[in-house]
Amino acid sequence: MRPAEFDLTRHTVWLESQTDFAGWRDAARRLALNEVRPEDVSWRVVAGLDRPPSDLPDVPQGAELIVPRDFIGHAETAFCHSDPGRFAFLYRLLWRLRIEPKLLAIASDPDTKRLETMEKAVRRDSHKMHAFVRFRKIGVGEDERYVAWFEPDHFIVERNADFFVRRFTGMRWTILTPYASADWDGERLAIGPGAAKGDAPDKDDTETLWRTYFENIFNPARLKVKAMQKEMPKKYWRNLPEASLIPDLIAGADKAARDMIAKIPTTPAPHHAKVQARHWPKHQPAETPDDGDAHTVSELREAAKGCRRCPLWRDATQTVFGEGPDNAKVIFVGEQPGDQEDLAGQPFVGPAGKVFDAILDDAGVDRLKVYVTNAVKHFKFEPRGKRRIHSKPNVGEVQACRWWLDHEFELIKPNLAVALGATAALSLLGKAIPVTKMRGQVIEREDGLRVFLTIHPSFILRIRDHADKEAERERFLQDMKQVKKLMAA
Ligand code: URA
Repeated sequence: MRPAEFDLTRHTVWLESQTDFAGWRDAARRLALNEVRPEDVSWRVVAGLDRPPSDLPDVPQGAELIVPRDFIGHAETAFCHSDPGRFAFLYRLLWRLRIEPKLLAIASDPDTKRLETMEKAVRRDSHKMHAFVRFRKIGVGEDERYVAWFEPDHFIVERNADFFVRRFTGMRWTILTPYASADWDGERLAIGPGAAKGDAPDKDDTETLWRTYFENIFNPARLKVKAMQKEMPKKYWRNLPEASLIPDLIAGADKAARDMIAKIPTTPAPHHAKVQARHWPKHQPAETPDDGDAHTVSELREAAKGCRRCPLWRDATQTVFGEGPDNAKVIFVGEQPGDQEDLAGQPFVGPAGKVFDAILDDAGVDRLKVYVTNAVKHFKFEPRGKRRIHSKPNVGEVQACRWWLDHEFELIKPNLAVALGATAALSLLGKAIPVTKMRGQVIEREDGLRVFLTIHPSFILRIRDHADKEAERERFLQDMKQVKKLMAA
């Protein structure tokens, strides 16, 4: 009931900024508890001293607003959307939720749909920011700092600043965008006003580094122009040092890629029993990703981009999903992406990947015909200065990510899995396996899948002594030759 003494006229709420969620939340609570209908509220943003006070009613004594617990999380994300009608929309949603508490579970409701679309857009934009912000170095010695220019579609700087703090803790950096800037001085994060592109430097030493890196990780067969443009819309190209290489790389890739694609078999692999984990119970994460009903590996890969099944997504640049033909006969499973895989968004493209590729080649296994993935799909690391040091995923993280691995197996239906190292063996078999002792053995799972055990290729990289390294390389080569035979069996 509306309190009798409260005069119901139009209310104007003045928010401090486009991202003043706390201000919106407080106003929405007061208005809803005073039964102010959505159509009687105007929402405005005015920064600084010019902002008039909002005419907000007090919370009636003892009144409590009850809305589903997850609404605030959803609203906070959608609030970052650039739609100017979002303040009113979210208030209308809150208004409805008071009497329709299950509203967010009704996927066909237009408001629920709109909320979901807005959230997706914000998450996608955040993902782009993680992947495409490029710092340029200015100053030297004490004055050295890194500045980046980025143009997000939504109001996502505040939301993502912590990510860059965790990622680049040891650097002093500033990210400039048209509507806000984030500045980290090594100890303190400050959010400031927007800037112009001209305020950011556009050349530095790291530019060459990015370009070299990009040229090196580039593999013509993996280049899908449409997917690449979708992933890296042209608007971001302007700010990427490596972007000037893209037209040449695409042009050169075309023929090479066609030649390689021609070699990939198109006949489907024989159907095998559903590869479904029975070893571990299904893990139900706090926040389930929008996995929908993925019918293809690319749909599954798309769904995995928003994975929140464990906390590792927060510090990683992106989900690194498996790669390879949908009908591969074998799936190689590594541990987790490393630093370079995290940046590139592809498995096994860094140093361990190079060793792996070379030995596969020597064994006569075509990497383009096999599917390569990881037990854990986000890079776990400890920041050490400017470097990110690999940190082993724990059992909970492996278990949480097992959900994706199971689905990769379900869709691809290989006749063989290769566990590269202990983490992969744990994920595939649901228990700790001494892989160095049991390497070369095949374990058949309850569902019929054969799992070949071997070491992780990074093990070879870590051996210092030349003779020992060569001996280990040879053993791994023999393992891969055995894999080739098993693939055909
Ligand atoms: N190590 C892995 O286990 N996976 C990768 O993708 C890279 C390194």
